[in-house]
Amino acid sequence: MDDKNPELDAIVDRTERLGVIGSPSSTSELALDVLGGAVARKLVGELALFRYVQDTAPHYALGQITEVQLRNVWHEDPTMRSLIRQRGRVDAVSERQDTHLGKMIISAVFKAGGPAGYEPSILGTVPSTGTPIHIVTDEVLDEVLCPYREQIFYLGHVYGSKPRLPLWFKHFDTGPEGAGEAYHLGIFGKTGSGKSVLAKMILLAYARYPKMALLVIDPQGEFAQDMRPARGARSEFALPVGDIARNMGKQSIVLTVCNLVLDRWELFEQILFESPFFEQLTIPKGENRELACGRLADQLKRSNVKLKDLHKRESFDRAWEILGDERNQRIFYRTQNSRERFNATLEESDPDDFYSDYWEPVATLFREDREGAKSINSALSDLLRTNVANRPILVIDLSREQAHGLFWNDKIQSLVIKRLLDGLSQSAEHFYKEGESLNTLVVIDEAHRLAPRELPRDDDAARGVRSVLVDAARTTRKYGLGWLFISQTLSSLHSEILQQLRIFFFGFGLGLGQEFQSLRQLVGSSGTALDLYQLFRDPHSAFDIASRQYSFMTIGPVSPLSFSGSPLFLNAYNTVEAFLEANGLRGGSTGGTGGEAIPNPSGGGTEAAEGNAPGTDTRVEPEDEAQALIDKILKWAKSHENFDRSFVEAMRERLQQRGSLTDGQLNALRNIVNKWHIE
Ligand SMILES: Nc1ncnc2c1ncn2[C@@H]1O[C@H](COP(=O)(O)OP(=O)(O)O)[C@@H](O)[C@H]1O
Ligand SMILES: [Mg+2]
Repeated sequence: MDDKNPELDAIVDRTERLGVIGSPSSTSELALDVLGGAVARKLVGELALFRYVQDTAPHYALGQITEVQLRNVWHEDPTMRSLIRQRGRVDAVSERQDTHLGKMIISAVFKAGGPAGYEPSILGTVPSTGTPIHIVTDEVLDEVLCPYREQIFYLGHVYGSKPRLPLWFKHFDTGPEGAGEAYHLGIFGKTGSGKSVLAKMILLAYARYPKMALLVIDPQGEFAQDMRPARGARSEFALPVGDIARNMGKQSIVLTVCNLVLDRWELFEQILFESPFFEQLTIPKGENRELACGRLADQLKRSNVKLKDLHKRESFDRAWEILGDERNQRIFYRTQNSRERFNATLEESDPDDFYSDYWEPVATLFREDREGAKSINSALSDLLRTNVANRPILVIDLSREQAHGLFWNDKIQSLVIKRLLDGLSQSAEHFYKEGESLNTLVVIDEAHRLAPRELPRDDDAARGVRSVLVDAARTTRKYGLGWLFISQTLSSLHSEILQQLRIFFFGFGLGLGQEFQSLRQLVGSSGTALDLYQLFRDPHSAFDIASRQYSFMTIGPVSPLSFSGSPLFLNAYNTVEAFLEANGLRGGSTGGTGGEAIPNPSGGGTEAAEGNAPGTDTRVEPEDEAQALIDKILKWAKSHENFDRSFVEAMRERLQQRGSLTDGQLNALRNIVNKWHIE
């Protein structure tokens, strides 16, 4: 048969042969007879490949080796066993008669041919025993994935191996780089397993798209730290997310508790309820206090006090008056007795102290004239507006550290998060126009705290947050909002959220008990994949920092190698440099210098790549070359019915929209011309 892909075959020929297909093998799991020479090599976790022919076209199947077994039937023989017991080994048998049998699960199959060079296919048959199985190298991957090169993003290497694991993170709109709809992702693992760092890397993958907006709800202030310009190394893996995003021309906005203006009376009521204000007036938490808060808010509104003026002394004085008024007191204390007691407390208390100690810290949360103040509504509008050239990253830092002089605790944090989520659902509905995706990713760290599966019956606040979150995850997807949930355990996250996730990353620490059960349910039947997962080590058990490994198993459509649905395994980059290098994110000044980042209006794809076509002295602008190639191919295609024009047409559209193609895409076009001998 005619060999259309000498490049790939030549590359594969140069790679090491690990073994051959053995028996029994099926389309879901293949047996691998390990070659003698490869026995001493680490095999588990390696990405391997074999060539075969299916429907007369050359195919390449890639997969991961999940297990290696040693067998020596002679050693299992009872007479041999007694010999071995005496001598330790039997020279003719021991070692020599060993066989090593591996298991390989196929994650992707490519068929040679088609306009772009390779097309996804399936393993529709099992090739004959003896078919050589090779190790996969970066070179092999670069070749089979060349049509997609520009979309590919790297978070790390194939677990326990050298090649980079190609992943892709598509935006939520339609178009060549889009998924066509929003989807949800989840990252799970014990504390310290590297979830937050992985989420930041993924955030940057999405930040590459100018038309995508990103929102981070950051309960610990961790993401906000990394957004600040040229920050010093605070943690081991200090990813300068803000600097890199600015280099891509993306504006990043950090709002902290200090400049986030709360804008609902309902919130005022709830926060006052949680605050020590009424505690100090001897109204314990409970129904009376709830009634008092409600009445006070009502009466303030009625007296025309504005939320933004609550912090003023006159508003406080008005509040104090309201509380002293018997008509109001009747609402929250029915008996004469309690009212008298309350009045006595009111009498004794010093309003000046109350104002500064208990009123101001709450009321200031609603104050609009703070430095850099922004209301939740206007922040969300800026985020969701789609008619801007490059949409922003908004990080909302809700950590206690930022709440200087404000009343803040975990309860208030969840109330504010609830307000944010409510606002998000409403704004999404408001900004959504038929047929236009809002194309926004919402990252929510420590999600298990907000949407736990179990909650005490009487904890209404927490129940409120949870149901809003579960609801938002369910309803906002249709507007083009996708969510990235980060959680420590699977079982602690509400099952309705779990069911909606499309892409999962599992870090270390889910290997036991109930967690493992949940994991098994999600991964499905492929038991050998879970064996590989169980080899993950706690990063903190490494002997030194440099050898720490942050491993993840991923399932879902996150890689061009995962279309068969089997899990993939990776070790995340453990240095910032390696991560930036792999993804061409180094741009201009890399951290540290604090120089002004120059926005790159063309939105990526212009990193200082040298013109690497040999012998091109006469400079042709790449756009012109691309246009010429596209014209040539489409003209030729008119007389070649069986040529699939969709890729080239997508390229023509992209060139019109963006004015340029990426190096990978240009190369793919050149390949088409060469392969089909188009003159
Ligand atoms: N890929 C990585 N390479 C190097 N260090 C990492 C990596 N991922 C995490 N770390 C470090 O490990 C620690 C815990 O990581 P973090 O992402 O905060 O874990 P989690 O969010 O799962 O609790 C941090 O000090 C972080 O700097
Ligand atoms: Mg974390």
